Amino acid sequence: MHHQTSARARPPGPRGVPLVGQLLAFRRDPTGFLQDLARRHGDLVRFRLGSRTIYLLNHPDLIEDALVTRAQWLTKSRGLERARPIVGNGLLTSEGEFHLRQRRLCQPAFHRARLAVYARAFVDHAERETARWEDGANLDIARAMTRLTMAIVAWTLFRVDVEAEASEIGEALETALAWQGRRFYPFYDLLARLPLPSNRRFREAMERLDRTIHRVIDEGRRGGEERGDLLSILLRARDEEGDGRGMSEEQLRDEAMTVFLAGHGTIAHALTWTWHLLSMHPEAQGRLHAELDRVLGGRVPTPEDADRLDFTRRVFAESMRLYPPAWLLGRRAASDYPVGDYCLPRGSTIFLCPYVTHRDPRFFPRPEAFDPDRWTPEAEAVRPRYAYFPFGGGNRVCIGEAFAWLEGVLVLACVARRWRVRPAPGVRVRMEPRLTLGPRGGLRVLLEARRG
Ligand code: HEM
Repeated sequence: MHHQTSARARPPGPRGVPLVGQLLAFRRDPTGFLQDLARRHGDLVRFRLGSRTIYLLNHPDLIEDALVTRAQWLTKSRGLERARPIVGNGLLTSEGEFHLRQRRLCQPAFHRARLAVYARAFVDHAERETARWEDGANLDIARAMTRLTMAIVAWTLFRVDVEAEASEIGEALETALAWQGRRFYPFYDLLARLPLPSNRRFREAMERLDRTIHRVIDEGRRGGEERGDLLSILLRARDEEGDGRGMSEEQLRDEAMTVFLAGHGTIAHALTWTWHLLSMHPEAQGRLHAELDRVLGGRVPTPEDADRLDFTRRVFAESMRLYPPAWLLGRRAASDYPVGDYCLPRGSTIFLCPYVTHRDPRFFPRPEAFDPDRWTPEAEAVRPRYAYFPFGGGNRVCIGEAFAWLEGVLVLACVARRWRVRPAPGVRVRMEPRLTLGPRGGLRVLLEARRG
């Protein structure tokens, strides 16, 4: 099939407005827009955002192909380039041989044995967070989960207590990310260079984060002894399979910033959506409570309990199906990329959208329904592997996947063993798909202390 004329020229897709394509529709409602495209045009859709031609892949086989089988044909997309001012050349953004080497160096910090150590921090911090909650309170649970997951990542990564610094670091990140949210604007690069107050705030935010990281690296170097935190493992890491050397200070900074950034907002969103769904589904919440009462019998959970909290895990999985925090993955074709009868030209942008695929009725009947029983082993066995990919896949799969599952399950267990959540009256919950998928303007729930 190498014959030129045999490849059909153009996959189906909508006709866009000249110059901007579908940019306005995409900006207005990105998830709805992509879902609609897939519904109308099928598993491979071509459309335009501004000057970029984009191909949306929407079938598990095509997704597996892009993430796993032919991953080396693709690089990360240009959209992510724009994260570089924040995360530098860390794992999320680096490419090729260098990425492989960094991945090898970072892997030991995410080893199973290490997770058990971090797990204690998940539980301690969750217990500490909920200790300040009050019966009957109307709580912004999105805020509470961000505070909690940031404290957790700061402790596991740096062994620093960010209680004091948390709000400051939080603000810095918010600023940095709000700035990121503009990346689809035309003239973004120009805007970024103007002396606007938002640009100044961004720079100050980055400087503050940098100072924290360099201070911790310094302390780690001087401290000498193994502290067991992620950064000190990275400090000691040597590339045994490669040149036997470690990371430069700048590289350590980039990896630390990457893990800090990638390792808390995503999981905060996942937990927030889970509370929202539980508040809307009292029956599922009841089953969750029953499991926790049975397995824990009133104790604080230990890392070993996580394996026994089957239903808790299913609730978390189902929540990430409906609201995958990393809702959109971007790639770029490093060479011409054939898909079926078509050939996507080199340089094309490719979108994989967990949000869209996770709500495809072919793989998830009644896709809008929250049903944790989709995650029994029998139900999972009949689904294609890449119908569900909240953590991506292949060589770029989330390095924190096991970390995130454990954190999710243990935090849910710590909170739900003591608290019931109900919808707060008069609240309309809306999604805000930015770099990650969160709720717009926070998410309020009513807290009720569980007795018994
Ligand atoms: C529910 C929580 C999380 C979700 C949904 C999530 C999702 C993802 C996804 C989809 C990717 C791949 C992106 C792509 O292929 O374009 C990724 C990569 C990554 N994640 Fe996560 N993540 C989560 C939690 C974490 C945690 C807890 C950490 C660290 C402690 C982390 C660190 C990373 C890093 C470093 C990468 C880049 C890996 C590489 O390219 O080698 N993530 N994550």
